[in-house]
Amino acid sequence: MALDKGCFKIVSTGHFTPEGVLSNHDLEKIVDTTDEWITSRTGIKERRIVNGKNTSDLATIAAMNAIEKANYDKDKIDLIIVATFTAELRSPSMACRVQAKLGLDKPGILAFDINAACTGFIYGLNIAEKMMYSGSYKSALVIGAEVISKFTDYKDRNTCVLFGDGAGAMIIEKDESKEVIFNVQTKSDNDLILYVDDYVNMNGPKVYQFASRVIKSSVNGVLEYGNIDRSQIKKIIPHQANIRIIQSASKALKMPMESFYVNIHKYGNTSAASIPIALDEMLEEETMEAGDKVILVGFGAGLTSGACLLTF
Ligand code: UT7
Repeated sequence: MALDKGCFKIVSTGHFTPEGVLSNHDLEKIVDTTDEWITSRTGIKERRIVNGKNTSDLATIAAMNAIEKANYDKDKIDLIIVATFTAELRSPSMACRVQAKLGLDKPGILAFDINAACTGFIYGLNIAEKMMYSGSYKSALVIGAEVISKFTDYKDRNTCVLFGDGAGAMIIEKDESKEVIFNVQTKSDNDLILYVDDYVNMNGPKVYQFASRVIKSSVNGVLEYGNIDRSQIKKIIPHQANIRIIQSASKALKMPMESFYVNIHKYGNTSAASIPIALDEMLEEETMEAGDKVILVGFGAGLTSGACLLTF
């Protein structure tokens, strides 16, 4: 486990989900499935699908949403990291496209993508925190953005019912009074139980077993490292892959389901975007007091996994 402490303050968050809704009933018409199966096995009722937009568009709109909410001077941003596995171009990176679309022209900006699948947003925060701590960067824009519908085989019922499109963003600045704790890692996956070529391919039950185990160990890792009791945690924002995975984590961690933020019924699994979308929606519903602690926890292809304890 790569455990480490750092610090940053959350300046703002934002998200964007496309207007197009693909419901379970819509899927019943194109593949051999039922609303009952999808709802009971995953918790998903519908997902959002883009029409005419690309990953960098979604990322930019989510970033603009974060910028506008805080009335933030975007020219302060000097680091842009986009976590994605669904970039519309092989090069340049989505982060470079976001930089251009936001009109950030000041010298000295660094922009790049990372691919850590569904854990990508947490890896992105970890990297941004280290780069700010080194003293070189002062304001980071970290985004998780995916257009998974372009990498989904709508003839494969094992995968097509699970995924959706969307983006979430966070602006952070260095602040020594706001502790963050990371627990990030990668477990080698010789059997490739989850991978993407033209389409997403997955051994669902094997990924399910990995996910159920790793949420518990990732969350316990940050709690133990920070000597923090679970009663001090205001909310856990898990990667939204399957409601049953979240329910099993709730049981394993002995934390009630009310401690977990869930929006999977609306969006399905949006990979790197799922955690920042859920975090932003949670913040629209709940007010955080200074000092409140929230844990983000994710897992995905790689096999990557990680948790991040945030202090508001
Ligand atoms: O983002 C990180 C990566 N993804 C995940 O975390 C996903 C982790 N895995 C899962 O969430 C679950 O394994 C799935 C939702 C993908 C599948 O649920 P499951 O309970 O593990 O089902 P299963 O794969 O064991 O399949 C059970 C049955 C099979 O039929 P038989 O062989 O028992 O007759 C499947 O063919 O369900 C069938 N099935 C479906 N039936 C109706 C699989 N997909 C569907 C479907 N509709 N969409």
